[in-house]
Amino acid sequence: MSLTRRELLAATGVAALPVPSSLWRRALAPSAPLRILFIGGTGFIGPHMVRQALARGHKVTLFNRGRTNPGLFPEAEKLVGDRDGGLGVLKGRSWDAVIDTSGYIPRTVRDSAQLLAKSVQRYVFISTGDVYASFSKVGIDEDEPLDVLTDPNTEDASKHYGAFKAICERTVREFYPDRHTILRPGWIIGANDYNDISSYWPMRIDRGGEVLAPGNPADPTQIIDAHDLARFVLKSIEEGITGTFNAVGPEGRLTWAEFLYGIRAVTSADVRFTWIDADWLAARKVMPWTDLPIWWPPRDDYQQAPMFEPGGKGFAQVDGRRAVKAGMVFRPLADTARDIITEYKARPKTPEGRRQIFGLAPEREKEILRAWHQHIGG
Ligand SMILES: NC(=O)c1ccc[n+]([C@@H]2O[C@H](COP(=O)([O-])OP(=O)(O)OC[C@H]3O[C@@H](n4cnc5c(N)ncnc54)[C@H](OP(=O)(O)O)[C@@H]3O)[C@@H](O)[C@H]2O)c1
Repeated sequence: MSLTRRELLAATGVAALPVPSSLWRRALAPSAPLRILFIGGTGFIGPHMVRQALARGHKVTLFNRGRTNPGLFPEAEKLVGDRDGGLGVLKGRSWDAVIDTSGYIPRTVRDSAQLLAKSVQRYVFISTGDVYASFSKVGIDEDEPLDVLTDPNTEDASKHYGAFKAICERTVREFYPDRHTILRPGWIIGANDYNDISSYWPMRIDRGGEVLAPGNPADPTQIIDAHDLARFVLKSIEEGITGTFNAVGPEGRLTWAEFLYGIRAVTSADVRFTWIDADWLAARKVMPWTDLPIWWPPRDDYQQAPMFEPGGKGFAQVDGRRAVKAGMVFRPLADTARDIITEYKARPKTPEGRRQIFGLAPEREKEILRAWHQHIGG
């Protein structure tokens, strides 16, 4: 394994104190090395977990189709297969834990959960906060009603994401009644996010100038750092933490102002924020999530924003206390933002430039800001 000291510290969240290297090892690997199987592991959140597992001395096996970032983690064992009908290579093997980051379709999660039930000690399933039936309430805890599948004949995960995940969760509990860890993350942000949701705000703020800030500075938001999520996953395996947990920042901790100003604190850019009313943005078809990643206005607080339908004032105010009680900790936003900016700037430049999938293009942001200033007469 070839981690530098800096990478090791970044991967484990251990503060950069002058600790003798012989002591690190003990501090980093409190349990005996475990054999951990990933179903997935090479996209966005998987690598955060794989890196921490390796840094903690565990033995990692990656099972996936070998398509996504196949060059990652040469030190891990790699098993190639498709979880949809092609699990054969897992037969006859055993692991201390499986981390399933790629389960979206109930049938395939049933296949893996069933196949591994006798050969794996613990099943960690990455579900989603979208499992809940409604976000109209503030402080949703893990016992709130879940989304229900209305069409039993479909396997379209893009249409039934939350309902499918809820079924997958039930399956995992069925096969691993007292040895499952199910996590329901909210927005996950971190370095190496391939769809650029994580990088929009840090990179926009790092570019400097007048930044369009959406809604009200006091609106709540919730994010979970992929690093913190990974740390809790590893902890749950090492300590045998069973249960279902919302994985979000602490309830009510972060407002949009804290989020944006917190990111600004790690850049030297000259930035000023212009906060724009959510209804005015809606009327100009500036979309939450796609144009303004992570932002989802608390719809109940806005009068005329029909396009913001899927929100609900509880959306960014989910109760994360059960996970915190079980040992989930959060590193400072500054660390998250700095990691994202550093990784983004290190990405190779392609001749045609990077295609931005999410977030406002600079010209469009300028146009919206101009129109807003005209509107308010500024
Ligand atoms: N991003 C968010 O804000 C957010 C929020 C809540 C929950 N989540 C959850 O987080 C997870 C997403 O994580 P990620 O995509 O970053 O995970 P990941 O484990 O880093 O990447 C996905 C992995 O799945 C593998 N894979 C895909 N289809 C496969 C198949 N049919 N058979 C075997 N392997 C397959 C991919 O490799 P190959 O392509 O090589 O097979 C890749 O290794 C999902 O469960 C999602 O619901 C995300």
